[in-house]
Parts: sequence; structure tokens; C-alpha cells
Amino acid sequence: MAIDKKYIDQFINVTNKAALASSYLVGKKDKILADKAAVDSMRGGLNKINFQGEIVIGEGELDEAPMLYIGEKLGTNKGPEFDIAVDPLEGTNFAANNLPGALSVIAIAEKNNLFKAPETYMEKISTKVTEKNVIDLDFTVKKNISNLSDYLNKNPENLTACILDRPRHKKIIEELKKLNVNLKLITDGDVSGALLVTEEKYNVDIFLGIGGGPEGVLAAAALDAFNCNFQGRFLFETEEDKARAKKMGINDLKKKYELNEIVTGDSIFCATGITSGDLVAGIQFQGNDFVSETLVTHKSSGLKKVIKLKQNL
Ligand code: FBP
Repeated sequence: MAIDKKYIDQFINVTNKAALASSYLVGKKDKILADKAAVDSMRGGLNKINFQGEIVIGEGELDEAPMLYIGEKLGTNKGPEFDIAVDPLEGTNFAANNLPGALSVIAIAEKNNLFKAPETYMEKISTKVTEKNVIDLDFTVKKNISNLSDYLNKNPENLTACILDRPRHKKIIEELKKLNVNLKLITDGDVSGALLVTEEKYNVDIFLGIGGGPEGVLAAAALDAFNCNFQGRFLFETEEDKARAKKMGINDLKKKYELNEIVTGDSIFCATGITSGDLVAGIQFQGNDFVSETLVTHKSSGLKKVIKLKQNL
């Protein structure tokens, strides 16, 4: 079944208000406070909507997050049952330091259609190539680039790869440089990074590397609406991580997940800019009003666009 269109505006309103709340703390060097403002606003907003929601991706597990924890029930408890994935402030460093790219993000699917992901790292890859066996997490960087180059009919020197600039990616980055692929190195914010493959205008052909698992699930929801591809594999390093995963029902700890195993059926994705970045502009104040931009997708209706709103403060 499709998610009723009436929910689109309601969820945009949630990320819009969360972005506004966090925007007051931009540049204040306090990522915890900036996050808390977005969390409080988002939780309040979601609780006003007529639905029966359950957080599947949130601020952490019950023992580590007082609000928006995995399993928390939200909404008025009237209406359809939805899974909710939230990242009220994606890019806490960006907001704290007034750098580009901070977002407030939410994804909604019908109950049991969004992966319940633990707080752990995930190896990820996204491209617009949906054909099987062209791009794959199990292939070497060299093979993926060679396949992508053939598939897109572009020389590697005309391809761009986006990846988080982290020491753990040293080998991948060196390999990409050796292959003459252009790099877009991001310091944070890999929800946005993964989504740069969705449209030509971003000039990114492949996103890869290790980032947050929850961010992977959120990005997958939007990538699905854009008909792009995504694969992810959780990385469970400690025994504690492994035990938590098992508790959440993940038995094969090395499984490679295809996009359609992470999100199925209909979905809504909203990402509102807090500070301006690649996808959307940040919150701007104009007298008694504020202007916001939200990237929104609704899979069943084919909606995928940036919505600009001017609202009273
Ligand atoms: P926060 O908003 O929680 O600070 O996450 C930012 C982020 O860059 C994510 O986009 C990314 O998935 C993750 O951190 C990467 O983690 P790490 O900084 O440990 O490499």
C-alpha cells in the first residue's frame, strides 16, 4: 500500500522545524546542544502526527538515548503503522562549527519495511547503476571503477568518487588516485555524500567507504526513490556490537544488504538544510520569517524535489 500523500507536508514540517531549532545553535561550538535542539523539536513534531510510529533508526538504543531511541513509539497512536528513521542533526560538527552541509533528516516506510539498524559502522556503496554485477561491495575498487567506466562510457579520469576523508580509507583513496579518478572528499555527512549520485548536477558517479550504519539506511530510502543503487554491510567489531546485533535479529553478521533488503514498499524521505550544502540551502532568516529548503522524496508518487518554504518564525 502507498503512504498517503497527506503525510508528505507533515513530515517536511517536522524536519523543517527541527532544522530551525538547531539553526539557532549553529557556530556555537556545541554539537550536543545543537543535536538536542533538533531531537526535542523532531520528537515533539512527530508526536503531533496521526500515525502509529516506531523508531527503527534513532539516536541510539534505549540504554544510551533518552529520546528517539530504537523501539520508541511515536505519533498520536491513531492511523497507519510506520517505521521511522531519524537523524535530527546529521553533521553535528558542521552545525557546531558553522560549516556547510548540516541537515535534519527523516525517512518513513510502512511497518516492517525499513531495516532496524544498530549503531555501528557500515561499508557502503551507491551509484545510479541498478544493473546487477556492475558495481558491487564485493568487487575490488579497480573492478568497480573499470565496470563503471565501461557502463557509463566515461574514462576513469572523467569519473568522480565521493568518500569520507578518513584514515581508514587511505587504501581506497590511494587506489582511486592511481586509477586517475577524481575525488570528492567529504569531512562528514555521508547521507548527503551517498545522495550525490542521484543527479548529474552533483557530478559524482560513485559513493563508497565506511560510515554510519543508520546514515546508510536513511540514504537508502532516498536512493530507492531516485531509482539508484545501494549496498551496505554492517561492521561489528566488538563482542558487544555482535551481541547487540544478534539481539536485534541480525544473525549473519557479514551479510551484504541490497537496497531492497534495507527499504521496501513505499517511503517518504525529507532532509532540510540547517547550513547550506550540496543538496539544499540552510535556514535563512528574513525579518519575521525563515526560509528553508527540504529535499523530499515519496516513492509511490515519484516525487523527488527540493521544496523551498517561507514561514513565520
Ligand atoms: P554525526 O552527525 O553523528 O556527527 O555524524 C556525522 C558523520 O559524518 C556521518 O555522516 C557519518 O556516517 C559518520 O559521521 C562517520 O563517522 P566517523 O566520523 O566516525 O568516521
